[in-house]
Formats: sequence, structure tokens, C-alpha cells
Amino acid sequence: MPFNPASVIAKKRDGSALTRDEIAEFVGGFTNGSIPEYQMSALAMAIYLCGMSTAETAALTEQMLASGVQLRWPAGSHYVDKHSTGGVGDKVSLLLAPLLACCGLRVPMISGRGLGPTGGTLDKLESIPGFRTDLSLDEIREITARVGCVITGASAEIAPADRRLYALRDVTATVASIPLITASIMSKKLAEGLDALVLDVKVGSGAFMKTLEQARELARSLVETGRRMGVATSALITDMSQPLGHMAGNAVEVDETVAALAGEGPDDLISLTNSLGAELLVAAGLASTREEGVAQIQQHIDSGRGLEKLREMVAAQGGDLDAARPIAPATIIEATRAGFVAAIDVEALGYEIIRLGGGRRVMSDSIDHSVGIETLVSIGDRIERGQPLVRVFAKHEDGSLDRESLTSCFQIQDEAATKPPLVFERYPDVP
Ligand code: URA
Repeated sequence: MPFNPASVIAKKRDGSALTRDEIAEFVGGFTNGSIPEYQMSALAMAIYLCGMSTAETAALTEQMLASGVQLRWPAGSHYVDKHSTGGVGDKVSLLLAPLLACCGLRVPMISGRGLGPTGGTLDKLESIPGFRTDLSLDEIREITARVGCVITGASAEIAPADRRLYALRDVTATVASIPLITASIMSKKLAEGLDALVLDVKVGSGAFMKTLEQARELARSLVETGRRMGVATSALITDMSQPLGHMAGNAVEVDETVAALAGEGPDDLISLTNSLGAELLVAAGLASTREEGVAQIQQHIDSGRGLEKLREMVAAQGGDLDAARPIAPATIIEATRAGFVAAIDVEALGYEIIRLGGGRRVMSDSIDHSVGIETLVSIGDRIERGQPLVRVFAKHEDGSLDRESLTSCFQIQDEAATKPPLVFERYPDVP
């Protein structure tokens, strides 16, 4: 019987599970153009409304992965990566790739751009003069072998079905679906040909997932899919109720990365980098406990070797880490009342960066890499009226700096407020 896309859509719409063959036919047809976008959109909506089992999600991931090339590596080394579901000030990838390379792992990291309030690793790196994020597959292979790490964008050969499906999801209100997010993220990550992957699933006001329950569900879906596909996968559910580190933007985040690798990083950034890296060192068998993994990573911060490795990776990708990265003029925004910092609207802070030109509303927007925001207080801090809350780096002759909306990102109260934990949970909860 010829394949009938409408009956597959109807089956999913009615809440039944699709078979691996049905998913393969559908994604294959979408990739080769025999299934039109309107039918793929209808299936995406049915998945959005009815969800998918772990087996279906794994089959969808497998087919999206199969729509493009998968890197293959010579035996003898461990290939690993970390993926974050996105946050404000999240620059962990910039530290972790070189630090893991120093520990003897290989990190072929394919990363993304910022869209909406969360920043993108590629945009941050492009604030480094000369840095290229459009490496060919051969360049990825060569730099990974020679330097030990690379951070680049997904070329057209990597999971092309995801690229086309993501564009449809964006305009059909089907982005926020756990199986679709899982297949999208994992098809690109698995194309790297990894042995181990750690996921940083963010939760809080600046994250995709606003509640711990949602974050748990996404972590479970990502990890189970990775494991079914033969990759040692774990997830940490981590806090995004305040920016990570102090700096958020592009050039300012590279500056904070360099300072952190020189031993002057904020505690939360260093601690999260160490925790995520330790997961991979244990998964690869290069550390027997997480404590041992943390010690290995910290040693490469203390010795300065991590910073040297970042410099080497940047040079291999055409950039110069020592060339000036312009930062826009700074303006301090002060608290309008005394009290305790109870909450930070991190998403709103991310949108302030966009409004000042440091992020994009739509994919075609260009970015001013010199824009950024430095957060000077944390949740739980006791502050005085007039105390600096943030330092804004922006060219705002056009009046785009809005003091009121910046101060309203911070909820200040009279009662003491508790600091959130940095890492809420691991999935699975036992190694
Ligand atoms: N990031 C992705 O790559 N895909 C999604 O669907 C969501 C976040």
C-alpha cells in the first residue's frame, strides 16, 4: 500500500503511537520533498498536542539525524559534548570545551545562535575579531584532532530535516513541544558522533522551562533518547532564575570567560563548568568520581592551560583572542529602594539586551557585539537605595536605555530572601 501521510497525521492526532517505519517514511519524505510542508506542519501540531512516547521520540531523532551526515572518529579517543537548553549569561561552553580538551577529551561542539532572550555561543565567539563559525566538516575533523576542541555552527549537511522543521515550528506555534525539542537538539548533537553528552537543562525566569516539573520532563526525554541511541547521556537541572556569572551579552561574556580561565571567574560559573565537565570525565572513564573530575578541570584553570587552549582553538578558527573586543560605554542603574533581592526577571533582562542591539528578535537581525549587561546583585543580597544593580554597556544616544524597565527586572522586598541552589537535580538521580 502506498504511504499515506494523512493517515499517519490522523493516527497521531487520535493519540496513537506511530511506528518507527511510519516516522521514517514521514521524515524521509519531508527531507526529499515528496511530503509537503503543510503535512509536516500538521504532524508537528499533532505531536505538540498529543506528545510522543520515548520510543517514538527516539525514532524521530534517529530519522532527523539520518537526514544528514554523522561525524565518525578514529578509535582511541573519547568524543564528548555539553548542550545547554539556553540561558542569559550562559558562557559555560566557552570555558568547558578547552578545559575538557586539556583533560584529554575531544570536543567537536556544534553550537547555535541566540534567538529571543537567551544568548548564543556562536554570537559570543563572533565578537572575537576574525573568528569563524562556518567551518566545513573537514575543518571540524582537522581542528578537533589537532587542538582537541572546536566550536562551530551546524553546516547544511548536519540534520537538514531539523533546520526545515524548526522553521515550520517557529511559524506554527509548535516550538514548545518536548518530543520536538528533544529530536531537534539530539539530532544535531548526535551528528557529532559522540561517546558521551551532558545536558544542562535550565529552569527559571530566564529559561525555556519555567518550572522544575517541566525541566524534569525535558531532562528525562533528552537523556532517555541519547541513551537509546548508544550515547552515555546525563543531565543536570540548573538554575536560571538569575544570570550565570555577571556578564550577559557577547564581547562582555568573552571577557568574563577569559577572566574565569585566568582564575578570576565568578563562583557560580566556575562551579557549573566543573560540575558539567566532571559528568563527562566520569562518563568517559577518565575520572572515577565527580570529585576527581572537578579536581582535574580546576587544575587546568589554576595552571592557565585552559586559557592557552582557548587561545589555540580561537587561532585555529581564524580569530585572535588578544585583539581588542570593543565594549560599548557603561551606565550604572541604581536601586530605587532598599531591601532584599527576592527575584530577577531574567527573561526581561535578556529582552533589554535585545532592545539595546545585543541580541536578535528574528533570525535575520544583526547584532551589536559591544552591548551587554553586568548584573551586580544576586538573589538573597541585602541592598541599599542607590546601590548599583546593573552596569549597562550600550550606545544609547537614541534614548534606548530605559532605566525604569531595567530596575523593574529586580524584585526587592523587605523580608529576607533565600538564594536558589545552582544545581537542582541530576537525571538520572543515581549514576
Ligand atoms: N534548541 C534547538 O536546537 N531546538 C529546539 O527545538 C529548541 C531549542
